[in-house]
Amino acid sequence: MRLTAEEQEMLSGERGNAVQKAMELLVALGECYDAERMVPVTSAHLVACNPIAAGKGGTRYIKDLAKCGAIFVVPTTTNPACLELWDWKEMGFSQEIKQEQEALSEVIAQMGGFVCNTCTPYLIGHTPLFREHVAWGESSAIIYANAVLGARTNREGGPTGLASAITGRTPAYGYHLDENRYGTIKIVVNVELHGDTDYGTLGYFTGKIVRDKVPIFTGIPLSVSHSNLKALGAALATSGSAAHYHVVSVTPEAPSEEVASGSRRIGSSDTIEFGPRELKKSEESLSAAEPEAADVVILGCPHASIDQVKHYANLLSGRKVRSNVEIWILISHALKQYAEDIGLAKIIECAGARLVSNTCPSPMPREFFRERGYRVMAVDSPKMIYYLSTTKNVTCHYGSLSKFIDIVTKKGQPTVI
Ligand code: F3S
Repeated sequence: MRLTAEEQEMLSGERGNAVQKAMELLVALGECYDAERMVPVTSAHLVACNPIAAGKGGTRYIKDLAKCGAIFVVPTTTNPACLELWDWKEMGFSQEIKQEQEALSEVIAQMGGFVCNTCTPYLIGHTPLFREHVAWGESSAIIYANAVLGARTNREGGPTGLASAITGRTPAYGYHLDENRYGTIKIVVNVELHGDTDYGTLGYFTGKIVRDKVPIFTGIPLSVSHSNLKALGAALATSGSAAHYHVVSVTPEAPSEEVASGSRRIGSSDTIEFGPRELKKSEESLSAAEPEAADVVILGCPHASIDQVKHYANLLSGRKVRSNVEIWILISHALKQYAEDIGLAKIIECAGARLVSNTCPSPMPREFFRERGYRVMAVDSPKMIYYLSTTKNVTCHYGSLSKFIDIVTKKGQPTVI
């Protein structure tokens, strides 16, 4: 790789041990992918910054970097923690896991990290601009950064994200290069999509077909919302490994199909239709239980936007969650506070639902749900289904809350705010 004089200094250890270790890792990564150079990044988003995902080895690695004097040179945010840090006792988390999470978060904060514990950092001000190079982990955030914001990032893992935060560099390969960002497969949407869950279903269908290819969507209306695109990308990056997509006339690199494909013609063999049949079949394939069986309803994957919180509050207003079920809405702590300030949290809490901040079931202890007797969950996100069924051994119903609201709630008193 061709390194600048500054990058050579980092590699030779002139900028300290931690910077040297980080640069060695990035150079090795670059060589694996035949990168010719490094590219400066303007931000990092870290995954595996909770003791369960990082494990003992990863936790020691992060602490060792801090001991060697590592400091983040670009704004750096963190993915969800492995427990609810405010309501941990009430929700049944152990003191031990709380202390482990706090100790690790403290080390990350000492290095200069913004410990926000959310998979939607772009909703709370960590929002790169068009064509900015960044080093982000978290598949749903990565695909949002590439597709919706037009920023450029590969799918970073824990160590490489840390290395970029410490050096301000990443190897120039993959989605950092123009040639890898063009769409090569077309998805023609021939059905009206209603709400985030339908967009999640489209993403799930698409990811299974395109795998690592970048899809171009046509037929999606201009009225598509940020949270629709958030749901689409999160599901697409779960059933497939693509980290980018285009929606013609909507996303920044797709003013037209021609621009999105880099003027390459996409033939009929690479053109797939998504109509009412595909929507129904995909939705059905995601459900393995009826909503009546749900012990918990989990909403807000990826972490909810304030618009989504408002939508859930509207659905729950004047209703009461039934005594045999819980409703969790996952959210960043920053937006939970905002929801409290503007009265939405009160509506949700009066209905008996809970805004669960700074965490997500995915990084929670493996047996957390089974130990509490939770066996069936109703969720509105294919990504959450994937994590719950593969890592937490629970069965899921898939659908939007509006479709099963009468099953999990009953009429109650209207909330006065
Ligand atoms: Fe976020 Fe957890 Fe879903 S990290 S994207 S809420 S699986």
